[in-house]
Amino acid sequence: MNTIDPIEILVVEDDPVTAAGICETLNSRFYHCHHTVSLAGAGEIIKEKVINLVICDLNLPDGHGFDFLRQIRRTDKNTAFIVITSSDDPGLITTALRSGANDFISKPFHLHNLPTIIQRNLERQHMERLHDHQIKIHGLTEAIRVLIAALEAKDSYTSGHSVRVARYAMMLGHALSFNEDDLFTLELSAILHDIGKIGMPDQILKKSSSLLEKEYRTAKEHPVIGSKIVGKIGALKEVALIIRNHHERFDGNGYPDQLSGYAIPLMSRILTIADAYESIVSNRIYREKKTPEVALDELKKNAGTQFDPALVKLFIQIQSDTSLKKPVLRIDSQLHNLTAD
Ligand SMILES: [Fe+2]
Repeated sequence: MNTIDPIEILVVEDDPVTAAGICETLNSRFYHCHHTVSLAGAGEIIKEKVINLVICDLNLPDGHGFDFLRQIRRTDKNTAFIVITSSDDPGLITTALRSGANDFISKPFHLHNLPTIIQRNLERQHMERLHDHQIKIHGLTEAIRVLIAALEAKDSYTSGHSVRVARYAMMLGHALSFNEDDLFTLELSAILHDIGKIGMPDQILKKSSSLLEKEYRTAKEHPVIGSKIVGKIGALKEVALIIRNHHERFDGNGYPDQLSGYAIPLMSRILTIADAYESIVSNRIYREKKTPEVALDELKKNAGTQFDPALVKLFIQIQSDTSLKKPVLRIDSQLHNLTAD
């Protein structure tokens, strides 16, 4: 929960004295209190408002509080739900908790305890959301690990190359003051940029001499294949687009879409430079590695035709600044684990 958002609390209570006491207490603590006396009224409010917490009486004129609890839990497991009951029947309380209520208050109760109860439930709700988010991130990392493992099995050179490209790309990302989310997107795009090579025949991927025309056409399909693979993961749609365009050229003579200039996504333009630089300074099957100076000269020579000239300038500045530390990759440790598997 964002702490600057107002906290919206729905009170479903048909006893006017209890309802007035609750709302007065909550409003004095800067919560937004919405009050209704019925299930029908509660149903209308949740259609209109995003409610963070519900305080609901069990016996209402048009039904039982459990009906509303079940209605909410069908679509939302995170909204905190506190039951108010005048019954001290343990069976009823157990049923409430089993049905998805988070807490209960027995009438009569002291209003001065209410803020503590609300706070406790909001904190728990926040922790649960955080936990759900972590599970999603874990799932995403696992999916990436599987993709990288597949590429590693097919071609260990490409996998190592991708991690090094990620480091160079992240240097540019930091220099451009990318926020954390964009840095992570850039890192994932770099790590996965050649994932489409999984589908490439070994005789092309590992060929030490020049490719024939037909083989070159096949090799050029890897950005589209990679984009399709990565695009299957819902959270990686943006990454898929960046991967698709990592072989475009600034002058429009690249592939697969022949985009030119700033029509090429910024992160794809960054990857093109990081990818080219890393390839030149590393040994390849078909040639020996060259020095960083030669690689930077190559970038300079092709600035404005192959590469975004402003990014080349920035990259050259970064490479000559020895005070800059190598960026730490977020999923780097995952990849190390993978190598150790
Ligand atoms: Fe590539």
